Amino acid sequence: MTAVTFAPPSPNLALNQLVDRRRAQGDSLIHLAFGEARLPVLPQLAEQLAIGAARSAYGPVAGAEGVRAAVAGYFTRRGLPTDPDRIVVGPGSKPLLMAVQLAVPGDVLLPQPAWNTYAPQAAYAGKQVFGVPIPAEYGGMPDPGALSETIRRARRSGGDPRLLVLTLPDNPTGTLAPPAAVREICAVARAEDLLIVSDEIYRDIVHDPRATPFLSPAEVAPERTVVTTGLSKTLGLGGWRIGAVRFPAGEAGELLRDSVVAAASELWSTLAGPMQQVAEYAFAEPPEIVERKRASARLHGEVARAVHRIAVDAGAVCRPPAGGFYVYPDFEPLRDRLAAHGITDSASLAAQLLDGSGIVVLGGHLLGDRPQALRFKAATSLLYGDERQQEEALLAAEPARLPHIAAALSTIAEGFAQLTRPHPTAPHRTSEESR
Ligand SMILES: Cc1ncc(COP(=O)(O)O)c(C=O)c1O
Repeated sequence: MTAVTFAPPSPNLALNQLVDRRRAQGDSLIHLAFGEARLPVLPQLAEQLAIGAARSAYGPVAGAEGVRAAVAGYFTRRGLPTDPDRIVVGPGSKPLLMAVQLAVPGDVLLPQPAWNTYAPQAAYAGKQVFGVPIPAEYGGMPDPGALSETIRRARRSGGDPRLLVLTLPDNPTGTLAPPAAVREICAVARAEDLLIVSDEIYRDIVHDPRATPFLSPAEVAPERTVVTTGLSKTLGLGGWRIGAVRFPAGEAGELLRDSVVAAASELWSTLAGPMQQVAEYAFAEPPEIVERKRASARLHGEVARAVHRIAVDAGAVCRPPAGGFYVYPDFEPLRDRLAAHGITDSASLAAQLLDGSGIVVLGGHLLGDRPQALRFKAATSLLYGDERQQEEALLAAEPARLPHIAAALSTIAEGFAQLTRPHPTAPHRTSEESR
């Protein structure tokens, strides 16, 4: 019999299971390790789901005409004129991203750090990953100079980088690359003939859209940019699994779309009929959807900024969050004091937060960052409480002051402060799964 080695589950999903287990044992934990937009399902979405129950036929692999037209309209309203034929919908953007990796030859360039799924997907597609450092101001996109240098080194070492994955706004840093940087990166992509995958699943969660200009690489380099999006984050529908991808116009874009549709036909057949009903309604953006997105972006911004302040007050450096629901603090300024507590890298930092304060974070080493760096991702969207408290948080003028959120924030502040308290006790190293 041949042995088969399975990769471990995605670290964020593994930590989520760990939290469930420990909570079931009575532990009180602050869960900052899972990027789920925990908000109540909008009643109109549930109505659409019920109406869609009758859609029990397989239907076209790429999605029915109606849903593809709705997604095309969504992009067109965002300055990306789109024909419905350039849209494919699927069960989440994750499998669509995987299908794109399978369809494009060559290796992958990723910002360092990046969302923890891109690299394993590249490995499944038989690709090498070349990480490129991000600048001090933003993440989700490499520093342009470092990108050129990494491509040169990759080619010298026999690699063949052809695909560049960008995340706008970014998970894990919670920042948005500015338009000038997007233009610079697109110029490098053109010069080096790279295909860009622009993961824009957090696009509608820019906290202050009027103050934060969003430029998609698909506006600058339309001939070579694939855009992915979905409803998991903006409408809190992760478990419903609705994603979409927009391909470039022209022959190369059509070939790529056809390859992705071919992979989809063998992997998932089509997006579930009831979900196509939901997607057609949601991507058309009736007023109640627009309002829910506005309210949730505001809530995510308020709470992410509160956690950012706590990290900075504790002595970390941290890029101010501009989109999504993440912060990515760097405790490097406290390295000496942390070393006195046995904390020397992102794994021991995450382990001490869990064992010492019950705070669950995702160490930067799990996101492709340098393991020695004292960085972690904190997802702030699970702090909104139960369903009733989530409704309350959506409506509150100052959600961070609601008692249940304020209490979680003070536990976080206390946990960060505790990391560097004098008279240390050695960290308990029992949290295998957080390493
Ligand atoms: C950057 C990014 N892209 C894609 C996804 C996948 O989302 P889904 O497959 O639910 O569309 C996530 C989810 O965590 C994400 O953070």
